[in-house]
Amino acid sequence: MTKLYDALIEYGKSDYVPFHMPGHKRALMEFENPYSFDITEIDGFDNLHHAEGIIKEAEKHAALVCQSDETHFLVNGSSCGILSAIFSATKQGGELIMARNCHKTVYHAAELRELKTHYLYPEMLPEGILGSITVEMVEASIEKHPEASALILTSPTYDGVVSDVREIVKAAHAKGVTVIIDEAHGAHFLKESGFPKSAIRCGADVVIQSTHKTLPALTQTALIHINKDYKYKAKVRKYLTMFQTTSPSYVLMASIDSAMHWYVEEGREAYKKYLARLGKLRAAFKTGLKNLQLLEPENVFDYDISKVLISTKNSNISGEELHKQLVQKYHIQSEMVSAHYVLFMTSVADTDEYYRRFLDALLEIDEALQKSPMKFAEDDEMGRPKALMRICEAVEKPKKSLPLLESMGETSASYVYIYPPGIPLLTPGEKISERCVRQLQFYLEEGLEVYGLTKEREIEIVWVEFFT
Ligand SMILES: Cc1ncc(COP(=O)(O)O)c(C=O)c1O
Repeated sequence: MTKLYDALIEYGKSDYVPFHMPGHKRALMEFENPYSFDITEIDGFDNLHHAEGIIKEAEKHAALVCQSDETHFLVNGSSCGILSAIFSATKQGGELIMARNCHKTVYHAAELRELKTHYLYPEMLPEGILGSITVEMVEASIEKHPEASALILTSPTYDGVVSDVREIVKAAHAKGVTVIIDEAHGAHFLKESGFPKSAIRCGADVVIQSTHKTLPALTQTALIHINKDYKYKAKVRKYLTMFQTTSPSYVLMASIDSAMHWYVEEGREAYKKYLARLGKLRAAFKTGLKNLQLLEPENVFDYDISKVLISTKNSNISGEELHKQLVQKYHIQSEMVSAHYVLFMTSVADTDEYYRRFLDALLEIDEALQKSPMKFAEDDEMGRPKALMRICEAVEKPKKSLPLLESMGETSASYVYIYPPGIPLLTPGEKISERCVRQLQFYLEEGLEVYGLTKEREIEIVWVEFFT
């Protein structure tokens, strides 16, 4: 049996090019043997849950770097920050406005808090990715759901789409609604980085960022930023102590702190070089690719160009086939595969060599392809599944597994999603329409891993037996 440690060491020495998270790309930062400083809360080393010393100082420094009023280190990823933020802003059994393309953690918060969810549906863009959430959508939803106490959306999205957080905050605050921004993919939206402005600087009440995704920090590390004017600051702190481990890793906390110091000492310069190289790479894809295509969404508020999305839509291969060729022949590993595009995460830690190999590989693959009309209709999405009950109600009901085709018209009892990105295609309590079934079958045929189905590819439904 191969030991995980041995497999990781071997992989670390391999020539695989990492266009995926974490943002350090297994290279940028230096660290001693982690065992040599893996400690617990001993004298002189403070306590994450009651920070008053060295951890407090490090968090204050991070707040300064991120231009935040109050920042806390997270060692359980953005997930625990999102749970804490939503719990702070809602009552048990309350109501939440949320973008339908939120990460599953938001749905988990809704389940645990027994919330009634009201969805904002971003538009499907001609490029085949979801667009920004608009102020108009937010205003209309707040008007329709006056009982909702909070709003959460993802900006930037996994694909890099940014929403107009400043205007959204103005509209929500005018009605007393708390704004939480899942900026898990935007930890690099730092001052002078050249990337879009962070939601922290747009007045959001709580902003959560995964440092591990786009900055040179270890996996699981993240930050939560709290606005000084947020009335439930104390509640966020309270829930953080509940949703985070009581044994926070000093190795992880040191990694967040190191990334912050790195940004101050070397980051701005490094980001300038990174943006220049990235610009050249994107330009080379734009001019060089004939069948594949670099996606550059136009009708969005702002866009994070660190995400390189290569569409296979007009070629004779699928996203999965492109991904496989890149891994098997060129040792290039992407972050995410969809039916019609592949997402590559670039970061400040990428080398010239990575970009050269990426460009050469894509141009070579592209050369061998042919133009081909799209294999699927423009409705390559799930539509808007109708919520028949709250998530928390559905998960408590009796369940039964059914083959996909027989499940039409039933109510889903599980979360069905592709990971990454981890956005539920169906949540417990939503009606399984014909369109959902067709789309899930399409994903399975395209070779995508659909989670939430049984091994036999059945789906769990809410089961109500009628006795006559
Ligand atoms: C948009 C979004 N939010 C939240 C999360 C959860 O972040 P973490 O893995 O740091 O807990 C993810 C993870 O991929 C994500 O993509």
